[in-house]
Amino acid sequence: MTDVTGAPADVLHTLFHSDQGGHEQVVLCQDRASGLKAVIAIHSTALGPALGGTRFYPYATEAEAVADALNLARGMSYKNAMAGLDHGGGKAVIIGDPDRDKSEDLLLAYGRMVASLGGRYVTACDVGTYVADMDVVARECRWTTGRSPENGGAGDSSVLTAFGVYQGMRASAQHLWGDPSLRGRKVGIAGVGKVGHHLVKHLREEGAEVVVTDVRTDAVQRILEQYPAGVTAVADTAALIRVEGLDIYAPCALGGALNDDSVPVLTAKVVCGAANNQLAHPGVEKDLADRGILYAPDYVVNAGGVIQVADELHGFDFDRCRTKAAKIFDTTLAIFARAKEDGIPPAAAADRIAEQRMAEARAGRIAH
Ligand SMILES: NC(=O)c1ccc[n+]([C@@H]2O[C@H](COP(=O)([O-])OP(=O)(O)OC[C@H]3O[C@@H](n4cnc5c(N)ncnc54)[C@H](O)[C@@H]3O)[C@@H](O)[C@H]2O)c1
Repeated sequence: MTDVTGAPADVLHTLFHSDQGGHEQVVLCQDRASGLKAVIAIHSTALGPALGGTRFYPYATEAEAVADALNLARGMSYKNAMAGLDHGGGKAVIIGDPDRDKSEDLLLAYGRMVASLGGRYVTACDVGTYVADMDVVARECRWTTGRSPENGGAGDSSVLTAFGVYQGMRASAQHLWGDPSLRGRKVGIAGVGKVGHHLVKHLREEGAEVVVTDVRTDAVQRILEQYPAGVTAVADTAALIRVEGLDIYAPCALGGALNDDSVPVLTAKVVCGAANNQLAHPGVEKDLADRGILYAPDYVVNAGGVIQVADELHGFDFDRCRTKAAKIFDTTLAIFARAKEDGIPPAAAADRIAEQRMAEARAGRIAH
């Protein structure tokens, strides 16, 4: 999957004519009273109502916001398909600085916009929006998930996201070393925020050695205090990816971690982490494969969060969700097998499997 750029002509051309487009519906929303400017993109409803979060971000241009909505919505179609959810892909972006521009009125206006789609798009949290915001949106829109437990929601999704990434690591170990155990393996985590710190817990419980880094010293300090043994810290990500004897590298901060600078110097044999859009540009997946590094596709292993928000729509049940998130182990193994069979990198194999599932759903719909 490559990305759409931000120029208006490019965006429209992509939407109507390229393989990166083909979105079913793109809605521009405005409420001048509250200052709301939003874009809701529904990429596909082949598998069911489109599901994806709301990003609240100070885009430099409005065209950039539309391009981001298109890319993110398409990404959600693949993620939801691979997670085995009966949901298509969609995403919304609200243009603005969440710290300055977010207000109750704006969120309520946004809720009315989502509600006007009558359930074709279900929203949730993303960068810049939180559980408390979804509680407000939900007052106007019943197609809202990612709410607080007090309001019938499942709360923070990072617990199951970390659990899913951990399952992806176990599957990678099984594929590469013939044993899913991570005991004695050295795992480097870049970013010990909400997901990263839960991941440390799983790894330590299994007896892995963990190396962490984060731009926030307080986040690192918290981990080192919590785990006096088996966890060390390095100064930054540049140092982490060069740690001698590293078995697994887990990017758990921002996107673009795998790029022309980092891939040539990675010491790890496996990359498996929570961050979205880890591959900085098309072709990086091949560079990883050429170096013999096994890449567990980001959108496959970080699907625990979306599994949780999808479950919330049916009345949240943690155990049911955990069972679904545990299947990330089998899904990741299936992707590695398909990659080997087709002679392609795992990222391309994941795309193929997801596309197949969506095509089958569309064909089934036509047949009926
Ligand atoms: N929370 C979820 O359920 C979920 C689900 C799917 C994907 N993700 C993705 O996983 C990643 C982590 O999510 P999170 O919820 O833990 O976010 P978070 O903001 O709680 O944690 C991210 C951490 O990364 C650190 N960081 C930022 N830049 C860094 C850098 N250059 N080097 C090292 N550390 C850096 C931050 O200080 C922070 O502690 C994000 O990319 C997110 O999009 C999260």
